[in-house]
Amino acid sequence: MCGIIGYIGSQPARQIIINGLKRLEYRGYDSAGMALVGEETRVFKCAGRVKDLEEIVNASGFNSSVGMGHTRWATHGEPNELNAHPQVSYKGNFIVVHNGIIENYLRLKKHLESRGIVFTSQTDTEVLANLIEHLYLEGDLNAEQAISLALNRVEGAYGLVIIRTKEADKLFAAKKGSPLVIGVGEGENFIASDATPIVEYTQRVIYLNDDDLAIIKKDELILKTIRTKNIEPEVKKIDLKIGEIDKEGFAHFMLKEIFEQPRAIHDTFRGRVLPDYSGVMLGGLHNIIDSVAQAERIIIVACGTSWHAGLLGEYLFEEYTRIPVEVEYASEFRYRGPIIKQGDIVIAISQSGETADTLAAIKIAREKGARVIGVCNVVGSSIPRETDAGVYTHAGPEIGVASTKAFTTQVTVLAMMAFSIGHLKGVISDTLYKELITELVSIPGKIEKTLAVNDKALELAKVFQNTHNALYLGRGYLFPVALEGALKLKEISYIHAEGYPAAEMKHGPIALIDENMPVVVVATKDDTYEKIVSNIQEIKARKGNVIAIVTEGDEIIKKMADYVLEVPETIPALSGLLAVIPLQLLSYHMAVLRGCNVDQPRNLAKSVTVE
Ligand code: G6P
Repeated sequence: MCGIIGYIGSQPARQIIINGLKRLEYRGYDSAGMALVGEETRVFKCAGRVKDLEEIVNASGFNSSVGMGHTRWATHGEPNELNAHPQVSYKGNFIVVHNGIIENYLRLKKHLESRGIVFTSQTDTEVLANLIEHLYLEGDLNAEQAISLALNRVEGAYGLVIIRTKEADKLFAAKKGSPLVIGVGEGENFIASDATPIVEYTQRVIYLNDDDLAIIKKDELILKTIRTKNIEPEVKKIDLKIGEIDKEGFAHFMLKEIFEQPRAIHDTFRGRVLPDYSGVMLGGLHNIIDSVAQAERIIIVACGTSWHAGLLGEYLFEEYTRIPVEVEYASEFRYRGPIIKQGDIVIAISQSGETADTLAAIKIAREKGARVIGVCNVVGSSIPRETDAGVYTHAGPEIGVASTKAFTTQVTVLAMMAFSIGHLKGVISDTLYKELITELVSIPGKIEKTLAVNDKALELAKVFQNTHNALYLGRGYLFPVALEGALKLKEISYIHAEGYPAAEMKHGPIALIDENMPVVVVATKDDTYEKIVSNIQEIKARKGNVIAIVTEGDEIIKKMADYVLEVPETIPALSGLLAVIPLQLLSYHMAVLRGCNVDQPRNLAKSVTVE
């Protein structure tokens, strides 16, 4: 979950690394560090953000044309200067930045300590740096041999950049489980956790695979495995524009990404919906779609917001394909010996395509004979490369840690899948299929209209900004939306919030309701509308403060609720795509008013590459 960047070339590396770390900060931001290597080697580290590091390195005035940086999300050892990366080996020959976890680090550390090596940090990364140094010195090996040997001894996950200080004409990079991508330039090369810091310099990239070891010079790239087998590098062109990773005038990435949703959803179905709306073509599924239509069961695995999209997917698939669906937290699925039958289809949903638990769940599912479909946003990430088939959401880079457009584009993909599979199975008629697609295509325009609630969401946020708790209720398709609304509030404003199926309120949460409890009821018109109206009455009878998300023109709930936020009318299956927008905006404004760091909430990271 940390961010890594390395540079080798002829330009001054300092600002390239700082700028790169700023782009990667969404991956972790509790401490940061940098090494600049040339005739002299300088390492700078601090607890805190990249901007703090920037002040320190700029004040030093030091620069060179080779270096690497790291922004950290702590796993081993508290986020202080000592534990920040780069970690330097005991004799100072090797400098290492690392994303991931070395699982056998304690055993290795004990062994190295028994050889008299003294450690200065609590990190697993220092163990790796010292192991490399130890093998290098004791085994009379060159740097590449020592690194290969060390990597063959470690268990766990890593994305690594390593420099031997006296060989500043090359960077070593290695990957297992944690992503790394090389940016191929002219007379200069880059290495980073993802392509966002690279795109302003080059569009040509090489995604490293597990067990790859790259030796990166300014005008040469050598790719091997850690077992020293040479590999032919596959250079790909990335389609990522620099504007996509700027705030473009918005105060925060999260707000920009909320407002981008009409465009993002349009990009999700662009080129996939047939011009006359008679069908959708999901190219990435062509080799598997018949098997999905015949499947007796679909299992959806995901984490966080993606799990909420998966839950909505369950409702969509069961309604439109009549295939039973189970939705699992990837972290639970992977450890409980899941029962997978031949012919089962697993759908893994992940914005980043790197979530460790989701990746592990995929591996288990495939080992047990399931075929796995990935629904991911980041092109070229690990999950799409581990799956049998897949559909990209094409939401564009999502930088705000709280997921917004990832959710709505995932739901869009799941809707397209459910409709097309339902049609293939004959569960839905040609006419209904066309109606569903026509409605889906109208969603970006309806979100555009929904975004007009922004001012009202701000007013409401002012009313509720000091609350300590909130309850979010919804039924059917709107239950996952209630969960997602509560998660958004928790993540960025640190207010305790719970999402619940509205009818379950009577079985516990109703005891929490009094005049201090804001209850957000997602109550747009669908088959359970009358039931949720009764739920609102139950809350009002207990003096709860009701904020209702309603369909435009709903006069009934308007009379009962304390506040309403309106969204345009759509079919129940797609109602979540609209109803979630006011919830995202409400959380956003609450967090801003409370002075929270919206894009980088405490303790969280965008991409969770540790278990
Ligand atoms: C982290 C992020 C969430 C995200 C979850 C799953 O917790 O902060 O926003 O929903 O990981 O990530 P994924 O990339 O697999 O969707």
